[in-house]
Amino acid sequence: MKAVVCERYGPPEVLRLTETATPQPRDNELLIRIHATTVTFADRRIRAMDAPPGFGVLMRLAFGVSRPRQPVLGSELAGVVDAVGSAVHAFRPGDRVFAFADARLGCHAEYRCLPDNALVARMPANLDFAHAAALSFGGTTALSFLRRAKVRRGEQVLINGASGGVGTAAIQLARHLGAEVTAVCSAANADLVSSLGAARVIDYAREDFTQLGECWDVIMDTVGTAPYSRASPVLRPGGRLLAVLAGLQDMLTTPLRARLHGRRVIAGPAFGTTEDLRHLAQLAEAGVFLPVIDREFPLERIVEAHRHVDTGRKRGNVIIHVTDSLSQG
Ligand SMILES: NC(=O)c1ccc[n+]([C@@H]2O[C@H](COP(=O)([O-])OP(=O)(O)OC[C@H]3O[C@@H](n4cnc5c(N)ncnc54)[C@H](OP(=O)(O)O)[C@@H]3O)[C@@H](O)[C@H]2O)c1
Repeated sequence: MKAVVCERYGPPEVLRLTETATPQPRDNELLIRIHATTVTFADRRIRAMDAPPGFGVLMRLAFGVSRPRQPVLGSELAGVVDAVGSAVHAFRPGDRVFAFADARLGCHAEYRCLPDNALVARMPANLDFAHAAALSFGGTTALSFLRRAKVRRGEQVLINGASGGVGTAAIQLARHLGAEVTAVCSAANADLVSSLGAARVIDYAREDFTQLGECWDVIMDTVGTAPYSRASPVLRPGGRLLAVLAGLQDMLTTPLRARLHGRRVIAGPAFGTTEDLRHLAQLAEAGVFLPVIDREFPLERIVEAHRHVDTGRKRGNVIIHVTDSLSQG
């Protein structure tokens, strides 16, 4: 099968399209023929070994000290079940599924085997493979943080980095919870975030949301420019900072400090479940949540996709079409 391998850490050019053996499913696994996958910010972090501050050693231990232990990157996929092991009863060949392999990666290829208890769910009937592939990275991250914050109807939620993969999902999911959303992004993305449900847009190049004399119940920071030291004065009492991107020191020290001020800092990895994937699929079917697609590339041009993600300016999700003729659904 075709696969893109990353055999050393470095710039996008370290990626190489190659032929590898097609995996065979074990008894408890399904073999998925991948039609579409994504290049997420996590893929570029691993490829470039670019860890958030303080996480360098931990990231090398997790993903490989001198080179990626799993050379095939890619955490999301949408495709068709090709074969199932003898103990798999929940899926059959021909089922259209999407999956989140998360840190197990391996989705930048034509096929991926996953255990039947991994994060795999049936594709929403109304989505093509490209949109289904982009449901889970931003979706599970936003869902996980918004749930931990117990966002309530009527609360005011500010999302810093609202036009990225996590931010575009968070706007839609926070709106669904009944929150009023303020989106922070550049002027070029104002129309996009408004169309997703943001009631108000702050252009970070013109205004600093921490200096407007206003407060929010929940602040989600996906950029790392709103650590607790900057966000706390504009968090209401009982407010929560969702530090999707935070350095290790902030993660360890600020939750206690925030508690003393009657606020909370929620940081650390997001946790997704199979139930979350089913929930995101239902929301997609109900028209509540639609992943935003920025650029699309064939697998052969994945280096260009990584270059675009490296800019830090992508809008929503970058899609990789693996099976050209079939990937439109
Ligand atoms: N904790 C976890 O478990 C977890 C899970 C997933 C992701 N993450 C982390 O979350 C971060 C965001 O991921 P992502 O997928 O959303 O990234 P992304 O899609 O690459 O985010 C790009 C967006 O960031 C915006 N942006 C850049 N600089 C900005 C600034 N100064 N202020 C406001 N917006 C700005 C850009 O908008 P403009 O072009 O308008 O500037 C662009 O649309 C990554 O660092 C990732 O590693 C953490």
